[in-house]
Amino acid sequence: MIHFHTGAPEEGAVTIYLTDQTDDLQNTGLNEAESAFVQKAAAREQSLIPINRYDSMLYCYVIKKKSNQSATVEGIRKGGAELSGLIKAQKAASVHIVNHSGLEDAALHFAQGLALASYQFLKYRKDKEKKAHTLASISFDKDTIAEDRVKALQILTEAAFRSRDLVNEPLNALNATGLASAIRSFGKDAGFSVQVLTKDDMEREGMGGILAVNRGSIDPPTFSIMEHKPAEAKNSSPIVLVGKGVVYDTGGLSLKPTPNSMDRMKSDMSGAALVSAAMWAIAKLELPLHVIALVPSTDNRPGENAYVPGDIITMYGGTTVEVLNTDAEGRMLLGDALHWARRYNPALVMDFATLTGAASAAVGEHGIVCMGTADESVKSHLMESGERQYERLVEYPLWDEYGEQIKSEIADLKNIGGPTGGAITAGKFLQHFTDYPWMHFDIAGVSFSTSRKAYLPIGGTAMGLRMLMDYLMNYEIKA
Ligand code: BES
Ligand code: MN
Ligand code: ZN
Repeated sequence: MIHFHTGAPEEGAVTIYLTDQTDDLQNTGLNEAESAFVQKAAAREQSLIPINRYDSMLYCYVIKKKSNQSATVEGIRKGGAELSGLIKAQKAASVHIVNHSGLEDAALHFAQGLALASYQFLKYRKDKEKKAHTLASISFDKDTIAEDRVKALQILTEAAFRSRDLVNEPLNALNATGLASAIRSFGKDAGFSVQVLTKDDMEREGMGGILAVNRGSIDPPTFSIMEHKPAEAKNSSPIVLVGKGVVYDTGGLSLKPTPNSMDRMKSDMSGAALVSAAMWAIAKLELPLHVIALVPSTDNRPGENAYVPGDIITMYGGTTVEVLNTDAEGRMLLGDALHWARRYNPALVMDFATLTGAASAAVGEHGIVCMGTADESVKSHLMESGERQYERLVEYPLWDEYGEQIKSEIADLKNIGGPTGGAITAGKFLQHFTDYPWMHFDIAGVSFSTSRKAYLPIGGTAMGLRMLMDYLMNYEIKA
């Protein structure tokens, strides 16, 4: 893990000067020749400008003002990501960031992009030592940054790495039981409690949705319950997070068509990875909030005893569902989990799920589809967090008409809603199990990347985690 700190740079550190103008570089400590060199390079639209001092390496990063603050900040993160590649090529171990710009948190944003871009998943490679990124520490000029901001960045970076690691683990290394043990170890490390329901527990409770999906599996399902309950919690009713934990989605008997459609389906537990890493960060940050997280988990595959299209399943809480496509499995286990959440009398429930190809088709990899019944102030705060972190939200409507699409002739609901409005009909299905303020985040389009994009690596991205953490860290109780 990269270590962040304030104070003197490490021996041999690569130094970065952040600036938002190149007219006057007097205050930066560059000599005249260097200033002139930076000015010329900046005039050619170069933003990351190298200055070789022979005994050390210095870069000037020229911040470009974009059409809005959020885009400007994202540009700085991307600048950090660009440096990550150079650091690796130079085999440098440490970076020291000095903010000479007028943007207050520029150094933090730059460091965040640099750190997130330096993530690797090399566990299974023989040449991991040779391939490993050399970046070990990032330091900041002392008076420009508060100590607690640096600590938060440290924790949020590690949380993103933990989330990406979980997503990148394949099914043969991480089944539902494995996911529950990973969650247990997160809890031990960060100090939150974890309880795991077994298949027997689920049978006793009548959690028919998750049990139905699990019927084709050779592995038992798990239902992990995490809780962070500090004595000084600001909220009297808890915030509940729910993460879809489908450790592999073949589609079940409604088998996904090959080729390609299953290639990334180990990532169908990205919601689970996101909320588990969020709990780790919440506990590490000692947020004064009572937060619970639920992760229903199983793989979805055809097996001799697999649930079949036509089956009528009694969900947890008694709602009956006519299964018309076994590939619409996420809503089956999430329905149980959302019903379970009622027992906490929650102030707000937020679920994260790689739920529909429709959400991914609609907005691609640049936004998270969300919808829900939480009030407008909650929604606008979430939107702001999404903008600040550049994990932007697009709200879809939960109009009644979409609910008509999932009505069944012979059961309370059916699990598919026809060819149109797929992200919303999935949301309407989930809504049925809620009776509290609720938000649903469909991360199908953003959770996994097949190419490297700035600070997002190939594989798990952890996208949505920073938006969620930003929201929770700024959470205010209504008077
Ligand atoms: N896990 C998939 C959704 C998904 C698709 C995630 C692509 C990431 C990338 C989900 O379980 C699924 O199969 N959804 C179906 C629902 C349909 C059968 C109503 C879909 O979107 O096709
Ligand atoms: Mn599916
Ligand atoms: Zn799925």
